[in-house]
Amino acid sequence: MADGLRKGLASYGDAGFSLFLRKAFIKAMGYSDDALNRPIVGITNTYSDYNPCHGNVPQIIEAVKRGVMLTGAMPMVFPTISIAESFSHPTSMYLRNLMAMDTEEMIRAQPMDAIVVIGGCDKTLPAQIMAAISADLPTVVIPVGPMVVGHHKGEVLGACTDCRRLWGKYRAGEIDDVEIEAVNGRLAPSVGTCMVMGTASTMACITEALGLSLPMSATIPAPHAERFRSAEASGKVAAAMAKAKGPKPSELLTEASFRNAQVVMQAIGGSTNGLIHLTAMAHRSPHKVDLATFDKLGREVPVLIDLKPSGEHYMEHFHHAGGVPKLMAQLGDLIDLDAKTITGQTLREIVAAAEDVPGQDAIRPRDNPIKAEGAMAILHGNLAPRGAVIKQSAASPKLLQHTGRAVVFESVEDMTLRVDDPDLDVNADDVLVLRNAGPKGAPGMPEAGYLPIPKKLARGGVKDMVRISDARMSGTAFGTIVLHITPESAVGGPLALVQNGDMIRLDVAKRSIDLLVDDAELEKRRASLPPAVTPDWAKRGYAHLFNETILQADEGCDFDFMRGKGKG
Ligand code: FES
Repeated sequence: MADGLRKGLASYGDAGFSLFLRKAFIKAMGYSDDALNRPIVGITNTYSDYNPCHGNVPQIIEAVKRGVMLTGAMPMVFPTISIAESFSHPTSMYLRNLMAMDTEEMIRAQPMDAIVVIGGCDKTLPAQIMAAISADLPTVVIPVGPMVVGHHKGEVLGACTDCRRLWGKYRAGEIDDVEIEAVNGRLAPSVGTCMVMGTASTMACITEALGLSLPMSATIPAPHAERFRSAEASGKVAAAMAKAKGPKPSELLTEASFRNAQVVMQAIGGSTNGLIHLTAMAHRSPHKVDLATFDKLGREVPVLIDLKPSGEHYMEHFHHAGGVPKLMAQLGDLIDLDAKTITGQTLREIVAAAEDVPGQDAIRPRDNPIKAEGAMAILHGNLAPRGAVIKQSAASPKLLQHTGRAVVFESVEDMTLRVDDPDLDVNADDVLVLRNAGPKGAPGMPEAGYLPIPKKLARGGVKDMVRISDARMSGTAFGTIVLHITPESAVGGPLALVQNGDMIRLDVAKRSIDLLVDDAELEKRRASLPPAVTPDWAKRGYAHLFNETILQADEGCDFDFMRGKGKG
Protein backbone atom coordinates (compact mmCIF):
# COMPACT_ATOMS: atom_id res chain seq x y z
CA MET A 1 0.00 0.00 0.00
CA ALA A 2 1.17 3.55 -0.72
CA ASP A 3 2.34 5.63 2.20
CA GLY A 4 3.01 9.23 3.13
CA LEU A 5 1.73 11.78 0.67
CA ARG A 6 0.94 9.03 -1.87
CA LYS A 7 -1.82 7.55 0.29
CA GLY A 8 -5.49 7.93 -0.59
CA LEU A 9 -5.17 10.09 -3.69
CA ALA A 10 -8.13 12.20 -4.77
CA SER A 11 -9.71 10.51 -7.75
CA TYR A 12 -9.16 12.22 -11.11
CA GLY A 13 -8.84 9.02 -13.14
CA ASP A 14 -5.03 9.44 -13.39
CA ALA A 15 -3.04 8.57 -10.26
CA GLY A 16 0.12 10.27 -11.51
CA PHE A 17 -1.77 13.50 -12.11
CA SER A 18 -3.51 13.24 -8.73
CA LEU A 19 -0.14 13.09 -6.95
CA PHE A 20 1.29 15.86 -9.16
CA LEU A 21 -1.68 18.09 -8.30
CA ARG A 22 -1.55 17.25 -4.60
CA LYS A 23 2.15 18.15 -4.42
CA ALA A 24 1.66 21.31 -6.46
CA PHE A 25 -0.95 22.59 -4.02
CA ILE A 26 0.69 21.52 -0.77
CA LYS A 27 3.93 23.19 -1.87
CA ALA A 28 2.03 26.46 -1.61
CA MET A 29 2.49 26.00 2.14
CA GLY A 30 6.27 26.15 1.67
CA TYR A 31 7.04 22.46 2.28
CA SER A 32 10.20 20.98 0.70
CA ASP A 33 10.30 17.67 -1.18
CA ASP A 34 12.30 16.27 1.73
CA ALA A 35 9.45 17.11 4.12
CA LEU A 36 6.83 15.76 1.76
CA ASN A 37 8.64 12.46 1.28
CA ARG A 38 8.59 11.65 5.02
CA PRO A 39 6.06 9.41 6.77
CA ILE A 40 3.16 11.63 7.82
CA VAL A 41 1.68 11.91 11.32
CA GLY A 42 -1.75 13.55 11.26
CA ILE A 43 -2.64 15.55 14.37
CA THR A 44 -6.22 16.53 15.17
CA ASN A 45 -6.78 20.09 16.33
CA THR A 46 -9.78 20.33 18.63
CA TYR A 47 -8.98 23.80 19.91
CA SER A 48 -12.03 26.04 19.99
CA ASP A 49 -12.84 29.33 21.65
CA TYR A 50 -15.94 27.51 22.92
CA ASN A 51 -13.91 24.77 24.57
CA PRO A 52 -11.92 25.93 27.64
CA CYS A 53 -11.14 22.32 28.52
CA HIS A 54 -9.01 22.22 25.36
CA GLY A 55 -7.33 25.57 26.03
CA ASN A 56 -3.85 24.00 26.06
CA VAL A 57 -4.30 22.21 22.72
CA PRO A 58 -2.15 24.69 20.71
CA GLN A 59 0.76 24.13 23.09
CA ILE A 60 0.22 20.34 23.00
CA ILE A 61 0.22 20.43 19.20
CA GLU A 62 3.52 22.32 19.15
CA ALA A 63 5.05 19.70 21.46
CA VAL A 64 3.71 16.80 19.37
CA LYS A 65 5.08 18.36 16.18
CA ARG A 66 8.47 18.71 17.87
CA GLY A 67 8.42 15.03 18.83
CA VAL A 68 7.38 13.95 15.34
CA MET A 69 10.11 16.00 13.66
CA LEU A 70 12.80 14.91 16.14
CA THR A 71 12.00 11.39 14.95
CA GLY A 72 12.24 12.23 11.27
CA ALA A 73 8.59 12.24 10.27
CA MET A 74 6.30 14.97 9.04
CA PRO A 75 3.50 16.36 11.28
CA MET A 76 0.32 17.66 9.64
CA VAL A 77 -2.32 19.30 11.81
CA PHE A 78 -5.97 19.37 10.76
CA PRO A 79 -9.17 20.51 12.46
CA THR A 80 -12.08 18.39 13.56
CA ILE A 81 -15.22 19.16 15.48
CA SER A 82 -14.61 20.09 19.10
CA ILE A 83 -17.27 19.40 21.72
CA ALA A 84 -17.35 21.33 24.98
CA GLU A 85 -19.75 19.98 27.54
CA SER A 86 -21.48 23.22 28.47
CA PHE A 87 -21.56 24.62 24.92
CA SER A 88 -23.34 21.74 23.21
CA HIS A 89 -27.04 22.11 22.53
CA PRO A 90 -29.05 20.01 23.04
CA THR A 91 -26.36 17.78 24.59
CA SER A 92 -22.76 16.83 23.97
CA MET A 93 -23.87 13.20 23.62
CA TYR A 94 -26.01 14.21 20.65
CA LEU A 95 -22.81 15.32 18.92
CA ARG A 96 -20.47 12.48 19.94
CA ASN A 97 -21.27 10.29 16.94
CA LEU A 98 -20.99 13.27 14.58
CA MET A 99 -17.49 13.95 15.91
CA ALA A 100 -16.65 10.25 15.57
CA MET A 101 -17.78 10.29 11.93
CA ASP A 102 -15.99 13.57 11.20
CA THR A 103 -12.74 12.33 12.75
CA GLU A 104 -12.90 8.92 11.05
CA GLU A 105 -13.62 10.36 7.62
CA MET A 106 -10.87 13.00 7.87
CA ILE A 107 -8.40 10.29 8.92
CA ARG A 108 -9.47 8.27 5.89
CA ALA A 109 -9.65 11.20 3.47
CA GLN A 110 -6.21 12.71 4.11
CA PRO A 111 -2.85 10.98 3.66
CA MET A 112 -1.27 10.00 6.97
CA ASP A 113 0.62 6.99 8.29
CA ALA A 114 -0.26 7.50 11.95
CA ILE A 115 -2.62 9.76 13.81
CA VAL A 116 -2.40 11.65 17.08
CA VAL A 117 -5.81 12.55 18.49
CA ILE A 118 -5.87 15.23 21.15
CA GLY A 119 -9.03 15.43 23.21
CA GLY A 120 -10.41 15.42 26.69
CA CYS A 121 -13.72 17.15 27.28
CA ASP A 122 -16.21 14.40 27.98
CA LYS A 123 -17.35 13.14 24.57
CA THR A 124 -14.21 13.94 22.64
CA LEU A 125 -11.93 11.04 23.62
CA PRO A 126 -14.73 8.48 23.08
CA ALA A 127 -15.53 9.99 19.66
CA GLN A 128 -11.87 10.02 18.68
CA ILE A 129 -11.21 6.46 19.83
CA MET A 130 -14.36 5.18 18.12
CA ALA A 131 -13.04 6.85 14.95
CA ALA A 132 -9.53 5.48 15.42
CA ILE A 133 -10.81 1.93 15.89
CA SER A 134 -12.91 2.17 12.72
CA ALA A 135 -10.16 3.81 10.65
CA ASP A 136 -7.61 1.37 12.13
CA LEU A 137 -4.56 3.53 11.57
CA PRO A 138 -1.71 3.51 14.15
CA THR A 139 -3.06 5.91 16.78
CA VAL A 140 -1.69 7.78 19.77
CA VAL A 141 -4.23 9.41 22.06
CA ILE A 142 -3.29 12.49 24.09
CA PRO A 143 -5.71 13.61 26.77
CA VAL A 144 -5.45 17.36 27.37
CA GLY A 145 -5.21 16.70 31.12
CA PRO A 146 -7.20 17.81 34.15
CA MET A 147 -7.44 21.35 35.53
CA VAL A 148 -5.57 22.18 38.71
CA VAL A 149 -7.74 22.57 41.81
CA GLY A 150 -9.38 25.75 43.10
CA HIS A 151 -9.68 27.08 46.64
CA HIS A 152 -12.53 28.77 48.45
CA LYS A 153 -12.57 29.82 52.10
CA GLY A 154 -9.77 27.41 52.93
CA GLU A 155 -11.48 24.53 51.16
CA VAL A 156 -10.08 22.75 48.08
CA LEU A 157 -12.70 22.61 45.36
CA GLY A 158 -13.15 21.90 41.71
CA ALA A 159 -15.33 21.32 38.70
CA CYS A 160 -17.75 19.97 38.84
CA THR A 161 -18.64 17.86 41.87
CA ASP A 162 -18.28 21.00 43.95
CA CYS A 163 -20.31 23.00 41.38
CA ARG A 164 -23.24 20.74 42.20
CA ARG A 165 -22.58 20.55 45.93
CA LEU A 166 -22.30 24.32 46.34
CA TRP A 167 -25.21 25.00 43.97
CA GLY A 168 -27.23 22.60 46.16
CA LYS A 169 -26.24 24.73 49.20
CA TYR A 170 -27.30 27.87 47.33
CA ARG A 171 -30.69 26.30 46.49
CA ALA A 172 -31.09 25.34 50.12
CA GLY A 173 -30.39 28.95 51.19
CA GLU A 174 -27.11 28.07 52.95
CA ILE A 175 -25.06 30.25 50.55
CA ASP A 176 -26.03 33.76 49.38
CA ASP A 177 -25.79 35.44 45.96
CA VAL A 178 -22.44 37.07 46.69
CA GLU A 179 -20.78 33.83 47.79
CA ILE A 180 -22.10 31.76 44.91
CA GLU A 181 -20.66 34.35 42.48
CA ALA A 182 -17.27 34.10 44.21
CA VAL A 183 -17.46 30.31 43.96
CA ASN A 184 -18.31 30.62 40.26
CA GLY A 185 -14.91 32.22 39.63
CA ARG A 186 -12.98 29.58 41.56
CA LEU A 187 -14.36 26.26 40.34
CA ALA A 188 -12.35 26.12 37.10
CA PRO A 189 -9.04 27.86 37.83
CA SER A 190 -7.17 26.69 34.72
CA VAL A 191 -7.65 25.18 31.29
CA GLY A 192 -8.08 21.41 31.21
CA THR A 193 -10.79 18.91 31.95
CA CYS A 194 -12.83 18.59 35.13
CA MET A 195 -10.41 17.51 37.85
CA VAL A 196 -12.70 15.08 39.65
CA MET A 197 -13.43 11.54 38.46
CA GLY A 198 -15.97 12.75 35.91
CA THR A 199 -16.37 11.43 32.40
CA ALA A 200 -13.27 13.20 31.06
CA SER A 201 -10.99 11.75 33.76
CA THR A 202 -12.67 8.36 33.45
CA MET A 203 -12.09 8.23 29.70
CA ALA A 204 -8.48 9.39 30.06
CA CYS A 205 -7.79 6.61 32.62
CA ILE A 206 -9.53 4.02 30.44
CA THR A 207 -7.48 5.14 27.44
CA GLU A 208 -4.27 4.63 29.39
CA ALA A 209 -5.46 1.19 30.55
CA LEU A 210 -6.25 0.28 26.94
CA GLY A 211 -2.64 1.09 26.07
CA LEU A 212 -3.61 3.82 23.60
CA SER A 213 -1.82 6.67 25.39
CA LEU A 214 1.50 7.09 27.20
CA PRO A 215 1.88 6.07 30.86
CA MET A 216 0.72 8.88 33.24
CA SER A 217 -0.95 10.77 30.39
CA ALA A 218 -4.40 10.54 32.00
CA THR A 219 -3.46 12.45 35.11
CA ILE A 220 -0.79 15.08 34.33
CA PRO A 221 -2.47 18.44 35.02
CA ALA A 222 -3.26 20.41 31.86
CA PRO A 223 -1.01 23.43 32.60
CA HIS A 224 2.04 21.46 33.83
CA ALA A 225 5.27 21.38 31.83
CA GLU A 226 5.16 17.60 32.15
CA ARG A 227 1.98 17.63 30.02
CA PHE A 228 3.93 19.09 27.11
CA ARG A 229 6.93 16.80 27.56
CA SER A 230 4.47 13.90 27.45
CA ALA A 231 3.02 15.37 24.24
CA GLU A 232 6.50 15.57 22.72
CA ALA A 233 7.10 11.94 23.69
CA SER A 234 3.71 11.03 22.18
CA GLY A 235 4.80 12.65 18.93
CA LYS A 236 7.95 10.51 18.93
CA VAL A 237 5.91 7.35 19.50
CA ALA A 238 3.49 8.33 16.72
CA ALA A 239 6.36 8.93 14.29
CA ALA A 240 7.86 5.54 15.14
CA MET A 241 4.45 3.95 14.59
CA ALA A 242 4.11 5.76 11.24
CA LYS A 243 7.44 4.31 10.13
CA ALA A 244 6.68 0.81 11.43
CA LYS A 245 3.07 0.96 10.15
CA GLY A 246 1.86 -0.28 13.49
CA PRO A 247 0.65 -1.31 15.87
CA LYS A 248 -2.87 -0.49 14.73
CA PRO A 249 -5.80 -0.39 17.15
CA SER A 250 -6.89 -3.79 15.79
CA GLU A 251 -3.49 -5.20 16.82
CA LEU A 252 -3.53 -3.65 20.28
CA LEU A 253 -7.12 -3.91 21.45
CA THR A 254 -8.11 -7.37 22.61
CA GLU A 255 -10.87 -8.84 24.74
CA ALA A 256 -8.38 -8.57 27.64
CA SER A 257 -7.69 -4.88 27.05
CA PHE A 258 -11.41 -4.05 27.08
CA ARG A 259 -11.72 -6.09 30.27
CA ASN A 260 -8.79 -4.15 31.77
CA ALA A 261 -10.59 -0.92 30.92
CA GLN A 262 -13.70 -2.13 32.75
CA VAL A 263 -11.64 -3.12 35.81
CA VAL A 264 -10.00 0.30 35.87
CA MET A 265 -13.38 2.02 35.43
CA GLN A 266 -14.74 0.21 38.47
CA ALA A 267 -11.60 0.81 40.54
CA ILE A 268 -11.41 4.56 39.90
CA GLY A 269 -15.05 5.21 40.84
CA GLY A 270 -15.57 6.02 37.16
CA SER A 271 -18.35 7.90 35.47
CA THR A 272 -21.47 6.02 34.38
CA ASN A 273 -21.02 7.71 30.99
CA GLY A 274 -17.78 5.77 30.64
CA LEU A 275 -19.76 2.56 30.40
CA ILE A 276 -21.73 3.83 27.40
CA HIS A 277 -18.58 5.10 25.70
CA LEU A 278 -16.54 1.95 26.31
CA THR A 279 -19.45 -0.11 24.98
CA ALA A 280 -19.56 2.02 21.83
CA MET A 281 -15.78 1.74 21.40
CA ALA A 282 -15.84 -2.04 21.80
CA HIS A 283 -18.71 -2.37 19.33
CA ARG A 284 -16.51 -0.67 16.72
CA SER A 285 -14.11 -3.61 17.16
CA PRO A 286 -14.74 -7.38 17.10
CA HIS A 287 -15.04 -7.26 20.92
CA LYS A 288 -17.91 -6.50 23.26
CA VAL A 289 -18.65 -4.93 26.60
CA ASP A 290 -21.63 -6.68 28.09
CA LEU A 291 -23.48 -5.49 31.15
CA ALA A 292 -23.41 -8.88 32.93
CA THR A 293 -19.61 -9.05 32.79
CA PHE A 294 -19.31 -5.43 33.85
CA ASP A 295 -21.54 -6.05 36.86
CA LYS A 296 -19.62 -9.20 37.79
CA LEU A 297 -16.37 -7.23 37.71
CA GLY A 298 -18.05 -4.65 39.92
CA ARG A 299 -18.54 -7.31 42.60
CA GLU A 300 -14.85 -8.31 42.45
CA VAL A 301 -13.06 -5.00 41.91
CA PRO A 302 -12.80 -2.56 44.83
CA VAL A 303 -12.75 1.21 44.44
CA LEU A 304 -9.13 2.14 45.15
CA ILE A 305 -8.99 5.77 44.04
CA ASP A 306 -9.98 8.32 46.66
CA LEU A 307 -11.30 11.00 44.30
CA LYS A 308 -14.46 13.03 44.23
CA PRO A 309 -17.30 12.29 43.78
CA SER A 310 -16.73 8.85 45.40
CA GLY A 311 -13.93 10.08 47.71
CA GLU A 312 -12.01 13.21 48.69
CA HIS A 313 -9.09 14.00 46.36
CA TYR A 314 -8.71 15.45 42.86
CA MET A 315 -6.89 14.34 39.71
CA GLU A 316 -3.61 16.13 40.48
CA HIS A 317 -3.41 14.20 43.77
CA PHE A 318 -3.97 10.94 41.87
CA HIS A 319 -1.18 11.99 39.54
CA HIS A 320 1.29 12.80 42.28
CA ALA A 321 0.45 9.47 43.94
CA GLY A 322 1.59 7.50 40.90
CA GLY A 323 -1.32 7.72 38.43
CA VAL A 324 -2.83 4.86 36.46
CA PRO A 325 0.38 2.72 36.47
CA LYS A 326 0.36 2.69 40.29
CA LEU A 327 -3.36 1.93 40.34
CA MET A 328 -2.84 -1.02 38.01
CA ALA A 329 0.02 -2.19 40.21
CA GLN A 330 -2.37 -2.21 43.17
CA LEU A 331 -5.03 -4.04 41.15
CA GLY A 332 -2.47 -6.79 40.50
CA ASP A 333 -4.02 -9.95 39.13
CA LEU A 334 -7.32 -8.22 38.36
CA ILE A 335 -5.50 -6.72 35.36
CA ASP A 336 -4.18 -8.72 32.42
CA LEU A 337 -0.65 -7.35 32.48
CA ASP A 338 0.32 -9.00 29.20
CA ALA A 339 -1.77 -6.47 27.30
CA LYS A 340 0.32 -4.42 24.85
CA THR A 341 0.54 -0.63 24.58
CA ILE A 342 1.52 1.88 21.90
CA THR A 343 4.96 2.21 23.49
CA GLY A 344 5.77 -1.41 22.61
CA GLN A 345 5.81 -2.20 26.33
CA THR A 346 3.32 -4.46 28.02
CA LEU A 347 1.28 -3.20 30.97
CA ARG A 348 3.51 -5.46 33.10
CA GLU A 349 6.56 -3.38 32.19
CA ILE A 350 4.68 -0.14 32.76
CA VAL A 351 3.37 -1.30 36.13
CA ALA A 352 6.87 -2.45 37.15
CA ALA A 353 8.10 1.11 36.61
CA ALA A 354 5.25 2.71 38.61
CA GLU A 355 6.44 5.22 41.16
CA ASP A 356 6.16 4.37 44.83
CA VAL A 357 5.12 7.52 46.70
CA PRO A 358 5.51 7.18 50.47
CA GLY A 359 2.58 8.50 52.47
CA GLN A 360 0.24 9.09 49.55
CA ASP A 361 -3.40 8.25 50.23
CA ALA A 362 -5.08 8.89 46.87
CA ILE A 363 -4.38 5.35 45.59
CA ARG A 364 -5.36 2.77 48.18
CA PRO A 365 -3.98 -0.77 48.48
CA ARG A 366 -6.43 -3.59 47.83
CA ASP A 367 -6.66 -4.46 51.51
CA ASN A 368 -7.80 -0.92 52.39
CA PRO A 369 -10.17 0.15 49.61
CA ILE A 370 -12.49 3.17 49.50
CA LYS A 371 -15.34 0.74 48.75
CA ALA A 372 -15.12 -3.03 48.82
CA GLU A 373 -17.16 -3.26 45.62
CA GLY A 374 -16.72 -1.43 42.32
CA ALA A 375 -18.16 1.94 41.47
CA MET A 376 -21.09 0.79 39.40
CA ALA A 377 -23.77 -1.87 39.53
CA ILE A 378 -26.11 -3.02 36.78
CA LEU A 379 -29.77 -3.36 37.67
CA HIS A 380 -32.53 -5.29 35.93
CA GLY A 381 -36.21 -5.73 36.64
CA ASN A 382 -39.60 -5.03 35.12
CA LEU A 383 -38.62 -1.34 34.90
CA ALA A 384 -35.35 -2.04 33.10
CA PRO A 385 -35.53 -5.26 31.06
CA ARG A 386 -32.28 -4.42 29.22
CA GLY A 387 -30.59 -2.88 32.22
CA ALA A 388 -29.91 0.31 34.13
CA VAL A 389 -26.85 1.52 35.99
CA ILE A 390 -26.24 3.02 39.41
CA LYS A 391 -23.01 4.53 40.67
CA GLN A 392 -23.26 2.91 44.07
CA SER A 393 -19.92 4.34 45.21
CA ALA A 394 -21.40 7.86 45.09
CA ALA A 395 -24.83 6.91 46.52
CA SER A 396 -26.25 7.10 50.06
CA PRO A 397 -25.83 3.63 51.61
CA LYS A 398 -29.19 3.87 53.40
CA LEU A 399 -31.04 4.37 50.11
CA LEU A 400 -29.50 1.42 48.27
CA GLN A 401 -32.46 -0.70 49.42
CA HIS A 402 -35.52 1.49 49.22
CA THR A 403 -39.19 1.35 48.27
CA GLY A 404 -41.01 4.59 47.60
CA ARG A 405 -43.88 6.30 45.85
CA ALA A 406 -43.26 7.52 42.29
CA VAL A 407 -43.34 11.25 41.55
CA VAL A 408 -43.26 11.39 37.77
CA PHE A 409 -41.90 14.09 35.48
CA GLU A 410 -42.79 13.68 31.79
CA SER A 411 -39.68 15.39 30.42
CA VAL A 412 -36.69 17.51 31.39
CA GLU A 413 -38.81 20.63 30.73
CA ASP A 414 -41.65 19.34 32.92
CA MET A 415 -39.17 18.58 35.68
CA THR A 416 -37.60 22.04 35.42
CA LEU A 417 -41.01 23.71 35.63
CA ARG A 418 -42.46 21.70 38.52
CA VAL A 419 -39.67 20.34 40.72
CA ASP A 420 -39.56 23.45 42.92
CA ASP A 421 -43.32 24.05 42.95
CA PRO A 422 -44.26 24.43 46.63
CA ASP A 423 -47.49 22.54 45.84
CA LEU A 424 -45.68 19.51 44.37
CA ASP A 425 -46.85 16.41 46.26
CA VAL A 426 -43.46 15.03 47.25
CA ASN A 427 -41.68 13.86 50.37
CA ALA A 428 -38.19 12.63 51.14
CA ASP A 429 -39.10 8.93 50.85
CA ASP A 430 -40.53 9.28 47.35
CA VAL A 431 -38.77 8.18 44.17
CA LEU A 432 -38.35 10.97 41.61
CA VAL A 433 -38.96 9.62 38.09
CA LEU A 434 -37.83 11.39 34.92
CA ARG A 435 -38.74 10.00 31.49
CA ASN A 436 -38.39 10.95 27.83
CA ALA A 437 -34.76 11.80 28.53
CA GLY A 438 -33.09 8.82 26.81
CA PRO A 439 -31.05 8.63 23.60
CA LYS A 440 -34.06 9.41 21.37
CA GLY A 441 -36.37 11.02 23.85
CA ALA A 442 -34.72 14.32 24.66
CA PRO A 443 -32.79 13.82 22.22
CA GLY A 444 -29.20 13.00 23.08
CA MET A 445 -29.74 11.57 26.54
CA PRO A 446 -29.07 14.71 28.57
CA GLU A 447 -27.19 14.62 31.85
CA ALA A 448 -30.48 15.32 33.61
CA GLY A 449 -30.53 12.15 35.69
CA TYR A 450 -29.21 14.13 38.64
CA LEU A 451 -32.68 15.52 39.36
CA PRO A 452 -32.44 18.35 41.88
CA ILE A 453 -33.90 17.73 45.31
CA PRO A 454 -37.17 19.72 45.34
CA LYS A 455 -36.39 23.07 46.96
CA LYS A 456 -38.86 22.65 49.79
CA LEU A 457 -37.18 19.36 50.76
CA ALA A 458 -33.64 20.72 50.24
CA ARG A 459 -34.45 23.60 52.59
CA GLY A 460 -35.61 21.02 55.12
CA GLY A 461 -32.19 19.36 55.01
CA VAL A 462 -32.85 16.53 52.51
CA LYS A 463 -29.57 15.85 50.70
CA ASP A 464 -30.39 12.73 48.69
CA MET A 465 -33.39 10.85 47.32
CA VAL A 466 -33.78 7.89 44.98
CA ARG A 467 -34.01 9.28 41.48
CA ILE A 468 -34.52 7.17 38.37
CA SER A 469 -34.53 7.99 34.66
CA ASP A 470 -33.53 7.00 31.15
CA ALA A 471 -31.14 9.97 31.16
CA ARG A 472 -27.42 10.10 31.86
CA MET A 473 -25.65 11.86 34.70
CA SER A 474 -22.43 13.81 34.79
CA GLY A 475 -19.62 11.71 36.18
CA THR A 476 -19.01 14.54 38.60
CA ALA A 477 -22.44 14.12 40.22
CA PHE A 478 -23.40 12.05 43.23
CA GLY A 479 -26.50 10.61 44.90
CA THR A 480 -28.71 7.52 44.77
CA ILE A 481 -29.44 7.81 41.10
CA VAL A 482 -30.51 5.09 38.68
CA LEU A 483 -29.64 5.93 35.08
CA HIS A 484 -29.77 4.65 31.50
CA ILE A 485 -33.01 2.71 32.05
CA THR A 486 -33.24 0.61 28.90
CA PRO A 487 -35.25 0.52 26.73
CA GLU A 488 -35.97 4.22 27.15
CA SER A 489 -39.52 5.50 27.57
CA ALA A 490 -39.60 7.25 24.16
CA VAL A 491 -39.42 3.85 22.44
CA GLY A 492 -42.05 2.30 24.74
CA GLY A 493 -39.81 1.11 27.58
CA PRO A 494 -41.59 0.33 30.85
CA LEU A 495 -40.57 3.70 32.31
CA ALA A 496 -43.35 5.10 30.07
CA LEU A 497 -45.90 3.12 32.13
CA VAL A 498 -45.12 4.58 35.59
CA GLN A 499 -47.85 6.71 37.15
CA ASN A 500 -47.72 9.07 40.12
CA GLY A 501 -48.24 7.12 43.31
CA ASP A 502 -47.01 3.74 41.97
CA MET A 503 -44.54 2.05 44.28
CA ILE A 504 -40.98 1.49 43.02
CA ARG A 505 -38.51 -0.85 44.70
CA LEU A 506 -34.74 -0.43 44.37
CA ASP A 507 -32.52 -3.18 45.73
CA VAL A 508 -28.91 -2.69 44.68
CA ALA A 509 -27.68 -5.77 46.58
CA LYS A 510 -30.10 -7.86 44.48
CA ARG A 511 -29.36 -5.71 41.41
CA SER A 512 -33.07 -5.02 40.89
CA ILE A 513 -35.32 -2.10 40.04
CA ASP A 514 -39.03 -2.89 39.88
CA LEU A 515 -42.36 -1.19 39.46
CA LEU A 516 -44.70 -2.82 41.98
CA VAL A 517 -47.70 -2.87 39.67
CA ASP A 518 -49.20 -6.14 38.40
CA ASP A 519 -48.64 -7.30 34.85
CA ALA A 520 -52.29 -7.03 33.80
CA GLU A 521 -52.41 -3.35 34.78
CA LEU A 522 -49.10 -2.71 33.00
CA GLU A 523 -50.42 -4.34 29.84
CA LYS A 524 -53.51 -2.12 30.02
CA ARG A 525 -51.31 0.95 30.34
CA ARG A 526 -49.08 -0.21 27.49
CA ALA A 527 -52.10 -0.61 25.19
CA SER A 528 -53.08 3.00 25.81
CA LEU A 529 -49.65 4.50 24.98
CA PRO A 530 -49.81 6.85 21.98
CA PRO A 531 -48.31 5.50 18.72
CA ALA A 532 -44.71 6.51 17.97
CA VAL A 533 -44.37 9.39 15.48
CA THR A 534 -41.29 11.14 14.10
CA PRO A 535 -40.90 14.30 16.17
CA ASP A 536 -40.57 17.66 14.39
CA TRP A 537 -36.95 18.07 15.48
CA ALA A 538 -36.04 14.87 13.63
CA LYS A 539 -37.48 15.73 10.22
CA ARG A 540 -34.20 16.74 8.54
CA GLY A 541 -30.41 16.76 8.63
CA TYR A 542 -28.22 15.21 11.28
CA ALA A 543 -31.19 15.14 13.66
CA HIS A 544 -32.97 12.80 11.25
CA LEU A 545 -29.97 10.49 11.01
CA PHE A 546 -29.68 10.54 14.79
CA ASN A 547 -33.32 9.73 15.42
CA GLU A 548 -33.45 6.95 12.83
CA THR A 549 -30.28 5.12 13.79
CA ILE A 550 -29.32 5.80 17.41
CA LEU A 551 -28.92 2.64 19.50
CA GLN A 552 -29.94 2.28 23.13
CA ALA A 553 -27.58 2.73 26.10
CA ASP A 554 -26.80 -0.98 26.48
CA GLU A 555 -25.36 -0.88 22.95
CA GLY A 556 -23.34 2.29 23.49
CA CYS A 557 -25.66 4.81 21.75
CA ASP A 558 -23.68 4.52 18.53
CA PHE A 559 -25.48 4.70 15.20
CA ASP A 560 -26.62 1.25 14.10
CA PHE A 561 -24.65 1.45 10.84
CA MET A 562 -21.38 2.47 12.50
CA ARG A 563 -20.72 -0.67 14.53
CA GLY A 564 -18.07 -3.21 13.47
CA LYS A 565 -18.56 -3.94 9.82
CA GLY A 566 -21.74 -1.88 9.55
CA LYS A 567 -25.40 -2.68 9.25
CA GLY A 568 -26.79 -6.07 8.37
FE1 FES B 1 -15.00 19.68 29.79
FE2 FES B 1 -15.82 18.83 32.33
S1 FES B 1 -16.60 20.44 31.08
S2 FES B 1 -14.33 18.03 31.00
